[in-house]
Amino acid sequence: MFEELSNLHKKCFPNKPWSADDFRELQNSGCEIIMSQNGFIVYRIVLDEAEIITIGVNPEMRRQGIASAMIGIIEKSIKNQGVKKLFLEVASNNVAGKKLYENCGFLPVGLRPKYYDGVDAILMSKDI
Ligand SMILES: CC(C)(COP(=O)(O)OP(=O)(O)OC[C@H]1O[C@@H](n2cnc3c(N)ncnc32)[C@H](O)[C@@H]1OP(=O)(O)O)[C@@H](O)C(=O)NCCC(=O)NCCS
Repeated sequence: MFEELSNLHKKCFPNKPWSADDFRELQNSGCEIIMSQNGFIVYRIVLDEAEIITIGVNPEMRRQGIASAMIGIIEKSIKNQGVKKLFLEVASNNVAGKKLYENCGFLPVGLRPKYYDGVDAILMSKDI
C-alpha cells in the first residue's frame, strides 16, 4: 500500500513527492490514511479536532467527485468519533485545492505568509 501511495502522491505533487517510508511514518505517528485506486487522503485526529494533512487524486480521474467524496467519508467517520472541527492548509496559488475546499464548506480562518517555498498558506476550517 505504501509504495502505491507514494507513486500516486508523486503524480499529484511532482515537486514534493513523499516516499513509502514517509507514509509509513505518518501512519506510525497516528495519522489515518485512506487510499482508493485513484485517490488518497491523510488526516489526523487530536481530541475533538482533526486536520487534513494531504489529499490527491490521479490526474486522469479528476473532476469526477473523488476528492469531495473522500472528504465526505472522513467527515462522517470523524464526527462519529466526537470531532467538532476540521482544519487544513492550502497554498494560495492552488486553484483546484481552494475551490474544492470552498465547495466542501471550508472557510478561510488564517494565513501563514510564505509557508510553502515563498507561497502563502491559507488555513481553512469547517464545523462538522
Ligand atoms: C485538488 C484535487 C484533490 C481535486 O480532486 P478532484 O477529485 O478532481 O475534485 P472533485 O472532482 O471532488 O472536485 C470538486 C470541486 O472542486 C473544484 N475543483 C476541482 N478541481 C478543480 C480545478 N482544477 N479547477 C477549478 N475547480 C476545481 C470544483 O468546484 C469541483 O466541482 P465541479 O467539478 O462540480 O465543478 C486534485 O486536483 C489534485 O489531486 N490536485 C493535486 C494535489 C492537490 O493540490 N491537493 C490539494 C492540496 S493538499
